[in-house]
Amino acid sequence: MKKLTYKFSNSSTDYYLAYGISHLKEIVDQTNSVIITDEHVYGNHEKRFKNWNVIILKPGEEQKTQATVDSIVEQLIAMEADRKTTLVGVGGGVVTDITGYAASVYMRGIKFGFLPTTLLSLVDASIGGKNGIDVGVYKNLVGTIRQPSFILHDLVFLNSLPQSEWINGFAEIIKHASIKDAAMFRELETSSLKKYQGRKVVLCKLIQRNAILKTKIVQQDEFEKGDRKLLNFGHTLGHALENQYELSHGQAISIGMTYASIISEKILGFKEAKRVTNLLAKYELPTFAEFDKGKVFNVLKMDKKRERKDIHYILLDKIGKGVIKTISLQQLEKIFEDL
Ligand SMILES: NC(=O)c1ccc[n+]([C@@H]2O[C@H](COP(=O)([O-])OP(=O)(O)OC[C@H]3O[C@@H](n4cnc5c(N)ncnc54)[C@H](O)[C@@H]3O)[C@@H](O)[C@H]2O)c1
Ligand SMILES: [Zn+2]
Repeated sequence: MKKLTYKFSNSSTDYYLAYGISHLKEIVDQTNSVIITDEHVYGNHEKRFKNWNVIILKPGEEQKTQATVDSIVEQLIAMEADRKTTLVGVGGGVVTDITGYAASVYMRGIKFGFLPTTLLSLVDASIGGKNGIDVGVYKNLVGTIRQPSFILHDLVFLNSLPQSEWINGFAEIIKHASIKDAAMFRELETSSLKKYQGRKVVLCKLIQRNAILKTKIVQQDEFEKGDRKLLNFGHTLGHALENQYELSHGQAISIGMTYASIISEKILGFKEAKRVTNLLAKYELPTFAEFDKGKVFNVLKMDKKRERKDIHYILLDKIGKGVIKTISLQQLEKIFEDL
């Protein structure tokens, strides 16, 4: 099997791209591994889990809690999992975030790997080593940064992915293109959701290109002191909206990217906000939206990316070139009022 190995500051991850779950037993010891998945993934793909030890979680972001981690730990004890056990998260970002976290704390840390099954987790959530859980309304408040030992792709899982989850994944793909890859942005402009869904080879290339783009950003700045912040394009406002309104993550960051592009025009002289919003709309994502600016600004002030009175806002200099701009909260409030 051809694998790519990417080194991080104190570990490395093997990438088995375009493989299949049938190869998993060549990577880990089947008898001493435990797959963690959720009911949707298991229900649609039961036969692929034959002969594996499996822990099946209830699906959904509401499950990304300490209580779920506790129940995983209890099941691992019952299965007599030890320091040599490997946990394998097979699922979307919720499953991979929890698996990485449970593996980081069980017996002070055991090995883990991922088989991402949503477009979003293939291109984003499975990469970069951020693992964790939510605490009440605070998303990802508790967690670790620890890289998986391996990432294995099997696109057959996408056959059962609901359309809304495809759209969520494309929001992160458009984010990557906007901040780092003008050529990919142009490819997305000439293609469409339907075309990608119908052409597996092209889709596979797009997924790998995005996975590697994120990996390289993380490699250069694993602990988010600089360039990794660019991955938050659309997320500052997006997270605030996601908390206040009934929006999926993809929809929320799409609106976030829309306004970040407009702010880029206002303060950096960026000229292509229209191209960004047109591309988002093409992939069935929302752009301009009515929202209570005061209320959203109050939530935004609590963003993890805030440092005292300043916030690091990700803007676009041009398509394919994201920049980190430090804006005072006072200035940002004024910008919001004028939007
Ligand atoms: N660690 C990171 O760097 C990082 C980055 C981005 C997002 N995340 C996290 O990822 C989560 C979002 O990830 P997500 O969008 O994959 O969410 P998810 O795991 O909730 O999956 C979305 C839905 O799709 C279902 N599903 C998954 N795979 C399926 C398949 N193949 N067929 C049918 N249904 C399937 C799930 O059961 C769920 O209902 C959030 O918790 C977010 O915080 C983490
Ligand atoms: Zn995101």
